[in-house]
Amino acid sequence: MSKRASQENQNNFSVNDDASNKLKNFIQEADEIKKQLRQETLSQERLRQKYLGKNGLFNQLSEKITKISTSERKTAGLLLNHLKENLTDYIENLADQDKEPLAQQNKIDFTLPGIKPRVGHIHPISQAIEEITHIFEKIGFIRVRYPEVDWDWYAFESLNMPQEHPARDEWETFFVDQPPHPEKGKVVLTPHTSNGQVREMERVGEPPMRMINIARCYRRQQDVTHTQMFHQFEGMVIDKNINIGHLKGTIDYFAQQFYGKEAKSRIRPFHFSFTEPSFEVDFSCNICQGTGFIKDENNKNNKLKCNFCKSGWHEVGGAGMIHPNVLKAGGIDTNKYTGFAFGWGVERSYTLQKGLNIDDIRLLYSANLSFLEQF
Ligand code: PHE
Repeated sequence: MSKRASQENQNNFSVNDDASNKLKNFIQEADEIKKQLRQETLSQERLRQKYLGKNGLFNQLSEKITKISTSERKTAGLLLNHLKENLTDYIENLADQDKEPLAQQNKIDFTLPGIKPRVGHIHPISQAIEEITHIFEKIGFIRVRYPEVDWDWYAFESLNMPQEHPARDEWETFFVDQPPHPEKGKVVLTPHTSNGQVREMERVGEPPMRMINIARCYRRQQDVTHTQMFHQFEGMVIDKNINIGHLKGTIDYFAQQFYGKEAKSRIRPFHFSFTEPSFEVDFSCNICQGTGFIKDENNKNNKLKCNFCKSGWHEVGGAGMIHPNVLKAGGIDTNKYTGFAFGWGVERSYTLQKGLNIDDIRLLYSANLSFLEQF
């Protein structure tokens, strides 16, 4: 039995048998109204309207009193008083849960607005990968994918880093416990060298080629600024007459697309065994626009050192003209073709873009939703 039905149920009205049929019908109608009210599932407000409102059931019945003969009208009037009291009592004293709107009583009201499902979003690093891919596709680069577990040949040896070469120490590599390939050597998790280069030369054969390889790479290092796995995007262009101007132009183009129109890039001499000459690549800080200083809000004549970059620039990665030994390893005729290559981390590029000083880069891969939901 519902809570309402179990609420105090008053006796029905009654009169003696001598009463006229009109009065009897009148009484019966009043009884019906009482009964009907006890079956209702409407909210308190709706019940008030339906039973006690201007055009409510009570008023409809009271209008019929004029049809009752004057001798019986007093009885009918008392009955109406009684009915009104009864209806009012019942409606005003409804249990608290019955006063709630329908939706909260587990009764379905199809007219109520629905409950919005929680919608997630793509991981910030996947968003960055999509954006970077799109930027390079616009200038004719093709995104390629190569194995994450690869032979030493592609990861090191073909990149002008023979076995036992000291430069290999810079890449703390994970070796996979597998018998080595007779020519291609040991099996490694791809390091952040440039392992897509020679594979791409083998795949395309004859230049021109323009590729972007955005892939995971691995190193044996883990702390607040390093994760054992991160994403590197390496780009490569080989064609006739390719020179450093093309390289610098491509890097500038990327900087402006990714960091905004004001962004600039700078290259500084460096050493990588797979490029010659080699450079380190810096981007202007997009918090202080490369000046190293930001406005002092409290004193217009003063400048504050930019805490994000400290110098106006952020170092992001490396680049260079592909070393002839690497071109030869990929079967490219070095008398006819030259090329450039570059590479840097997606994670770093992304955090710089957002002006994020993430004090622990590992948060990006922590599955900590309160952190990730901010992006
Ligand atoms: N892979 C190099 C690094 O980890 C960058 C690089 C890529 C340099 C391609 C030259 C060519 O810093």
